[in-house]
Amino acid sequence: MATPIIAPSILSADFSKLGDEVRAVSNADWIHVDIMDGHFVPNLSFGPGITATVDKITDQPLDVHLMIENPEKWVDQYIDAGADCIIFHVEATDDHVGLADHIRSKGVRAGFSLRPGTPIEPYLGDLAHFDEVLIMSVEPGFGGQSFMPEQLEKVRTLRGLIDDNGLDTVIEIDGGISEQTIALAAEAGCDAYVAGSAVYGQDDPAAAVDALRRLATR
Ligand code: DX5
Ligand code: ZN
Repeated sequence: MATPIIAPSILSADFSKLGDEVRAVSNADWIHVDIMDGHFVPNLSFGPGITATVDKITDQPLDVHLMIENPEKWVDQYIDAGADCIIFHVEATDDHVGLADHIRSKGVRAGFSLRPGTPIEPYLGDLAHFDEVLIMSVEPGFGGQSFMPEQLEKVRTLRGLIDDNGLDTVIEIDGGISEQTIALAAEAGCDAYVAGSAVYGQDDPAAAVDALRRLATR
């Protein structure tokens, strides 16, 4: 099993010192950037400008999670801002395969995500178009919510299919990941873990990243 990928979400960082907060997790594998438009989710975060700022601060790959309507209108701005992977929601587009192919044609990794209430089955035949699948284990919109263990069923389904078909799609999980829940997600077969409050809610964010990685290692 490969080393678990830990992706702190800067949504939970202190924006008054964003540079320090990003540098505080220099031992993390990716930086997770949560984009919210106040329409797809009932919350607003930031946009391409802050994403480009984060890209200047760090060489770590930016895992950009678009919780926005009409993602096809905006993806190019996030590609220009330095995204290394762009994850959009299948509920927000009519053409998830076309959008993924467009993102990949620009040399950027493509991922899709689903709200907890959206079944995974209709998308299983399209995995070859994607580098990542982001399973939401909370309702998207806010950090600091409780982990929904029943969402791990989607992870198990994906793990089986990816392994049986020799695919290298990364299974990432997002929402409520902590020292209490990460081992459950690892057992179900995740490769990558987003953590907001469990990293930035700690006095030592780097130590929190290391602890999470250890607990996810099987
Ligand atoms: C939720 C976001 C998450 C969030 C995770 O809509 O997509 O990335 O920041 O925060 P925690 O880890 O606190 O649940
Ligand atoms: Zn996210």
